[in-house]
Amino acid sequence: MAKDKTVNVALIGQGFMGRTHSNAWGQVSKFFKPPLAPVMHTLFGQEEENPRAFADNWGWQRASTDWQATVKDPAVDLIDVATPNYMHAPVAKAAVAAGKHCSCEKPIAGTLAEAREMAEAAKKAGVKTFVWYNYRRCPAVALAHQLVRQGRIGQIRHVRASYLQDWAGPDVPLAWRFDKKLAGSGAHGDLNAHIVDMMRFVTGEEVTEICGAIAETFIKERNLMTGTVAGGIAAGLKGAAKKGKVTVDDAVLFLARFSGGAVASFEAARQATGNQNRNGFEINGTKGALKFDFERMNELNFYDATADRAVQGWTNIVCTHGADHPYVANWWPDAHIIGYEHGFVNEAFDILNVLAGQKPVVPIPDFADAYETQRVLEAALIAAEEKRWIKMADVK
Ligand SMILES: NC(=O)c1ccc[n+]([C@@H]2O[C@H](COP(=O)([O-])OP(=O)(O)OC[C@H]3O[C@@H](n4cnc5c(N)ncnc54)[C@H](O)[C@@H]3O)[C@@H](O)[C@H]2O)c1
Repeated sequence: MAKDKTVNVALIGQGFMGRTHSNAWGQVSKFFKPPLAPVMHTLFGQEEENPRAFADNWGWQRASTDWQATVKDPAVDLIDVATPNYMHAPVAKAAVAAGKHCSCEKPIAGTLAEAREMAEAAKKAGVKTFVWYNYRRCPAVALAHQLVRQGRIGQIRHVRASYLQDWAGPDVPLAWRFDKKLAGSGAHGDLNAHIVDMMRFVTGEEVTEICGAIAETFIKERNLMTGTVAGGIAAGLKGAAKKGKVTVDDAVLFLARFSGGAVASFEAARQATGNQNRNGFEINGTKGALKFDFERMNELNFYDATADRAVQGWTNIVCTHGADHPYVANWWPDAHIIGYEHGFVNEAFDILNVLAGQKPVVPIPDFADAYETQRVLEAALIAAEEKRWIKMADVK
């Protein structure tokens, strides 16, 4: 791999994330100067999705309908997993067993047991692994991480994180995201996964205790799916007249304590009308505070409580200054905003940095790190189900 400075990538899955990852691998060498150049070697898709056409559109050299063969292909260096959650563990474990590096979509797995197996298999194989918690790589979120490390907000007292969407109305059919066997959980594994990872990343602290949780499924039956989904969350999904049971949550809320003494709340919802993709947080410390909302993803709000009282107030930082804001120098001239897909390109750059033995711009989660996020998710589900508080030390 390092000899000719290239990495042959095989992507498994050609849905929504298949598109974001294809774009990232295709763009990264154009905007960054990664130490290794990704080669878009093979794309796996299911036969009915026409992987050849997808491969041609996005620039993959080969198209495959056999992921088992693809993960064993001696020419491939990195397996990139973008399938529904229940397929993360089988594909990732086969990949690392074949000696491949592996980057996997989030949540690392549908269940904690699978996440543990993945982390152990990767450790045993001695390969490098990554999980696509892409929001860490929004310049505004990466800046928040840096400001906390610089001590700009002091000791953290409050962590308030929520990820609110409103796409899952009653007309949306029973896609894999509503099936526990395929997804593991609903809004929880989909959305709380992101904000648990993001809050661990920004604060640099770990959750020590879950202090109560609520899980709710508002819509208990949905029309069975007809046809396949790939490419979207709800748009274009078609349902038959017959109904099937929803086996995951629509919303999960929980309270937690962090290792530095902060108290925290987390909320994930798919029917929070009026919120399209409102992934956000507010963190209050002894010297200042930070606020982020993905619906305004180029902006970070900072409150400097060490400034003269006369001028204290929220500062809206538009994170588009190449010299000061992470990743931005590689994009457009200062003051020109970026979008959703850029976080994935930024992540592809950092995956290539780590594969080359270099430091990422900001820390990138591997399977062991994403397992820690999964432990928090698991603890919150137990707390909701058993109506009790859970110490993280008891969740293995
Ligand atoms: N990082 C993010 O912000 C983000 C956003 C959306 C989804 N995701 C994650 O990405 C993953 C994929 O989600 P998506 O929205 O792209 O899903 P999708 O339904 O759009 O696409 C899934 C792809 O996997 C393939 N697939 C389905 N079952 C398979 C099987 N048994 N074997 C092999 N391939 C199979 C499908 O054919 C399709 O190509 C999930 O883990 C999801 O949680 C992450």
